Amino acid sequence: MDRSAVEAVKARISIADIVRRYVDLKPVSGRWMGACPFHQETKPSMSVNDDEGFFYCFGCQASGDVIDFYSRINGLEFRESLEQLAAEAGIEIGNVPHDPHAAERKAKSALFLDMHDEANAWFQRNLSLAAGDTARRYLTDRGMTPDVIKKFGLGYSPDDWHGLNNFLKGKGRTPDQGVEAGLLSKNEKGNIYDRFRGRLIFPIQNLSGRVIAFGGRIITDGEPKYLNSSDTPIYKKGDHLYGLNLARSTMTRTKRALLTEGYMDVISLHQFGYTDSCGVLGTALTPEQVKRLAGFCSRVDLVFDGDGAGRKAALKSSRMILLQGVACKVVLMPDGEDVDSLLQATGTEGFEECMAQAPSGLDFCMTTLRNEFAPREIMAWAKSFLSDLSDASLQAYYLPRIAGGLGLSEADFRRDAGIAGGTRSAPPRPTQAAPPSPNGAQGQGGQGRQRLPAVGKEDKDDRYFLKFPIQYPDYVQALAAKGFEGILGTQWAVALWEKLVNAQHGQILSQLNEQEKSFYIRCREEVRESVLTGRELLEEWEHICKKIADGQQRLDSRQLKEALHQAQLSGDKERIDECLRAFQESRRRDDEQY
Ligand code: CTP
Ligand code: MN
Repeated sequence: MDRSAVEAVKARISIADIVRRYVDLKPVSGRWMGACPFHQETKPSMSVNDDEGFFYCFGCQASGDVIDFYSRINGLEFRESLEQLAAEAGIEIGNVPHDPHAAERKAKSALFLDMHDEANAWFQRNLSLAAGDTARRYLTDRGMTPDVIKKFGLGYSPDDWHGLNNFLKGKGRTPDQGVEAGLLSKNEKGNIYDRFRGRLIFPIQNLSGRVIAFGGRIITDGEPKYLNSSDTPIYKKGDHLYGLNLARSTMTRTKRALLTEGYMDVISLHQFGYTDSCGVLGTALTPEQVKRLAGFCSRVDLVFDGDGAGRKAALKSSRMILLQGVACKVVLMPDGEDVDSLLQATGTEGFEECMAQAPSGLDFCMTTLRNEFAPREIMAWAKSFLSDLSDASLQAYYLPRIAGGLGLSEADFRRDAGIAGGTRSAPPRPTQAAPPSPNGAQGQGGQGRQRLPAVGKEDKDDRYFLKFPIQYPDYVQALAAKGFEGILGTQWAVALWEKLVNAQHGQILSQLNEQEKSFYIRCREEVRESVLTGRELLEEWEHICKKIADGQQRLDSRQLKEALHQAQLSGDKERIDECLRAFQESRRRDDEQY
């Protein structure tokens, strides 16, 4: 990605100016406030900080920089937002000199999008013509209303080898372009023909509403039942969700996504009023899809078939959703039904009944594991789940719940799963055999410290400590010199601290990952609410310095003890004396301190 373009956009575009296009902003004590557009809200709960270039909602915790805001409100990819904002600010991106093919790629994408529009119009027209009689009857027989057929832009590809090919030629497109766009196929002999023949057509749209691919269902006999576009420069399987562009506005209101497996399932759900529904599109659910959904809602409810295959898919999918810290439920359909057939047969009543019985994703996983897996498989599942968590701080949330779900105490579970406990039980190994020096480790307090991937108290402490340098950045270098790193107990905190130390002025936000960014922004927002000054600030500073010193001392004395122990084992009299002298010295300094 073009980092310098990102920085240039942020430097040149005021986030308040962008937000103001969508939200009425009012100045409130030195910042802008407005109603958050990402959850249902009329009170001004969103704050926009123009100086530091971020927004933050006190209601739904949505946060990010100007590109995040623009992407989210317009339903665009990061890249698309960057391009649009850069164009507004007159910043050149991507086409010089590190990416010579960018302009060509962009032109090709634009061409393929246009060709998809043309093909889409052609498919839709065919559905309304005499050739589409069978397809129209098929849809009516399946209970689809004209409204929903129109909403989803359904079409029909006639049973003809050259219909679309000829139509595109008429638009000035070459057959090879049609093949590369995924609309036509080419056999070994080099003959080019229509990919979709005699099929009901489901256009697949991106979040900006452009058609980027098609799915086609056979309506007479033939194989395969569904045929989808292959990957092209504008469509990558597993990145998109069927119907998301139609569902996202409801999702931001209900805070929920209903996720199902079939095209018809999505359409029926919308027809019956569940307009926060979308579909996974013929592949297993991917982390990219979950991330995309998580941008609009806080819960993803899986609506899957109740058979073996459906339950297996539900286990995998709910695991993936939970891993990203998103809540979920598992709604299983009665035997032999999918949600489309259920809705068409029983209306919303039957479906509501299934939803009322739906377990949470975590409960579903626990029950399935207990009922269907061997103990060693269960432990392997739990272990890999905890190590695959997208955000290490989620361990604190899941550990007790998984332990409870498996009928284990948290301590037993930690031990069996090989996860370090809240207290560091393993003594840190001295990092060097050199003579111990109680104050020699100043500024490198991290040495000899074993860090946890997360959690619990360690994580809470780290959040507390890190808040200070984030809120009072003038103190970052002074803290670094004092060995601040040494009091941090978790890996994520150390990583964030390193970024704070190394960040160029005003460029910290773009160095941070999602988790870091939201923590950072929360801290910055808080300090606006209540900033410490004078005596209070001094006290806080001293408190943190004392913590650093205490930690340092504990570490030193552990290292000293270990060194003494080693010296005694090897009978090295000189070194034993040296260690004892160091002990006395550090005791004396302790006494002076109090
Ligand atoms: N699918 C696919 N390719 C196939 C079969 C299925 O991409 N050869 C995808 C489609 O997205 C399909 C979903 O998997 O909608 C579920 O497949 P299935 O349960 O077989 O079909 P239904 O969605 O129930 O389709 P219908 O109701 O039209 O029979
Ligand atoms: Mn079906």
